[in-house]
Amino acid sequence: MRANPQDTLARIRERGAVPRHVAIIMDGNGRWARGRLMPRAFGHRSGMSAVREVIEGAVEAGIGYLSLFAFSRENWERPASEVEALMDLLVEYVGREADELAEKGVQVRVLGDLARLTPAAAAAVREVVQRTAPNARLVLNLFISYGARDEIVRAARALAREAASGALDPEAITEETVSARLYTADCPDPDLLIRTSGEQRISNFLLWQLAYAELFITPVLWPDFTRKELYGALEEFQKRDRRYGRVTA
Ligand code: FPP
Repeated sequence: MRANPQDTLARIRERGAVPRHVAIIMDGNGRWARGRLMPRAFGHRSGMSAVREVIEGAVEAGIGYLSLFAFSRENWERPASEVEALMDLLVEYVGREADELAEKGVQVRVLGDLARLTPAAAAAVREVVQRTAPNARLVLNLFISYGARDEIVRAARALAREAASGALDPEAITEETVSARLYTADCPDPDLLIRTSGEQRISNFLLWQLAYAELFITPVLWPDFTRKELYGALEEFQKRDRRYGRVTA
């Protein structure tokens, strides 16, 4: 008999420790589309239902923070038609899902170099962020036009400015001081990183924050990722022995 997701979730809850923060590199939309002899944009569109699935799954499982890598700074180099399709999808996604996100208690944050978004995408994002700001059940970080090295460079610039102005003693800079200048300032670090489509890379995602995350790589292509796969990753996470460089008793 095949396990149904609700049974898996009940088992996960019994065992206890659900990760507080799950980060996902959503990969494989292009290959998924190619396998169906369809254009890449069709794969991205199909990826939207997987986004809906993991948000619902995360809310059900009691995950506090969900970080999705939707568009990297490097993605701006893709053909203009694909970039345009992704921007349009973002506007469509927000327009279509904002009510439900608000209703479910999801607080949406959009993190990255947002100055580069199209005016329509920037407006859509601003609205959903503002509208869902009071929610606290699940924080959904959508990373758009994001690169981790760029994020760290921005943090370094901010620290340098503060030091140059005399507001910050360079000797007083700690890991916490740096974390507080990142886009994710008030989020705990991810406990679990999921990457779909089998690629074994971090791809410039949350380089600082993933220092102690458990990695879960699945061959499933993003449009096929459902809450069943999410719960499978949570079960695997619960079997891991997180030592943070120490030894277990
Ligand atoms: C990676 O697949 C995926 C992306 C670059 C875009 C992710 C976008 C979505 C899941 C849909 C929109 C989501 C929101 C929140 C609006 P790829 O194109 O690199 O796939 P490939 O490696 O198979 O070519």
